[in-house]
Amino acid sequence: MGSVAREMVEKAGLNVEELVSKLVAAAGAEFTTFYYYTILRVAAIGMEGEGLKEIIEDARIEDRNHFEALFPRIYELGGELPRDIREFADVAGCPDAYLPDSLKGGKTPTSSSIKDLLMVLVEAERCAVRCYTDLCHFTFGKDHRTYDICAAILNEEIEHEAWFSEFIGEGPSGHFRRSQPGTSPYVSRFMSADHG
Ligand SMILES: [Fe+2]
Repeated sequence: MGSVAREMVEKAGLNVEELVSKLVAAAGAEFTTFYYYTILRVAAIGMEGEGLKEIIEDARIEDRNHFEALFPRIYELGGELPRDIREFADVAGCPDAYLPDSLKGGKTPTSSSIKDLLMVLVEAERCAVRCYTDLCHFTFGKDHRTYDICAAILNEEIEHEAWFSEFIGEGPSGHFRRSQPGTSPYVSRFMSADHG
């Protein structure tokens, strides 16, 4: 861990234990959402599903990227990831993004069941937007590195929410799709261990 890095954060008046638990909850939400979005992307087929498939994939890969960008900061601050992945899932800061019942069993989406799917997606993104807004408020002016990482993630979560909210009739967001799936235009600079 970076002992001076942690000391500076404490001296700025932040409760580092509380910060670490917020970061572990955020990382848990990214990891579990990456898993659940895999199932949701697989379900996005047919005339109703195909239009959503690519942005679900973007959001899925970018959530994995958010986990990659977050976890080193937890260790730098003297924290750690839970040893047991079940415990990790239990402390995740956002609810499980379950496949809707209307799509269970590999059913091809209809205009009705695709709305169920969209509500799961948009609610997951809204939880993430709230989570990183909280982390930005919590660290602003006190922990510059965590703030910078969380602000980058927040930028991507806001775009994800906007993609899905367009589909539920909330108006245009002005965003275009990624050039490659899950390129993380804001977060990629924090993925120092990425070998891609
Ligand atoms: Fe995310």
